[in-house]
Amino acid sequence: MNGKYTFSIIKPNAVRTGKTGPILSMINEGGFEIAAIKMVQMTIQQAEAFYEVHRGKPFYEGLVEFIISGPVVVLILKHDNAVDEFRKLIGPTDPEKAEQGTIRRNFGVSVKMNAIHGSDNDENAVRESNFFFSDIERFC
Ligand code: RTP
Ligand code: MG
Repeated sequence: MNGKYTFSIIKPNAVRTGKTGPILSMINEGGFEIAAIKMVQMTIQQAEAFYEVHRGKPFYEGLVEFIISGPVVVLILKHDNAVDEFRKLIGPTDPEKAEQGTIRRNFGVSVKMNAIHGSDNDENAVRESNFFFSDIERFC
């Protein structure tokens, strides 16, 4: 799935406040095709494993606690140059620094509650997609 796919999570604050639909609309209008989608509630062990790369950073424990605070929507998204194009659509980590027209500008409320995750490279996109989706659940 190299290059053509990325992985995303609509985070608990956005799901909880009814932003799943509007965010999916922005994703589709941004030219991304949904190749896999489901809602999950992560256990603490799953969240720690998913965010393993951030273990030891000052925000790690708060991030894990936040991501398990409610259900999230996980997605595999298809687009040319998917990882970079999707990170453009979501905007920077801090929603206050995000440009108009980005998902984090519209739906993020803080660095922690920034509404959405996007993989940061192709290798992580594959790893993260395989973490959540089995073969029968995906169209890629
Ligand atoms: P993401 O992985 O969620 O797409 O976000 P990102 O690449 O823009 O940011 P990253 O550095 O990977 O951080 C992962 C998530 O950790 C939280 N964070 N908090 N200084 C802080 O308090 C801080 N830094 C990062 C954010 O929720 C970020 O999305
Ligand atoms: Mg990241």
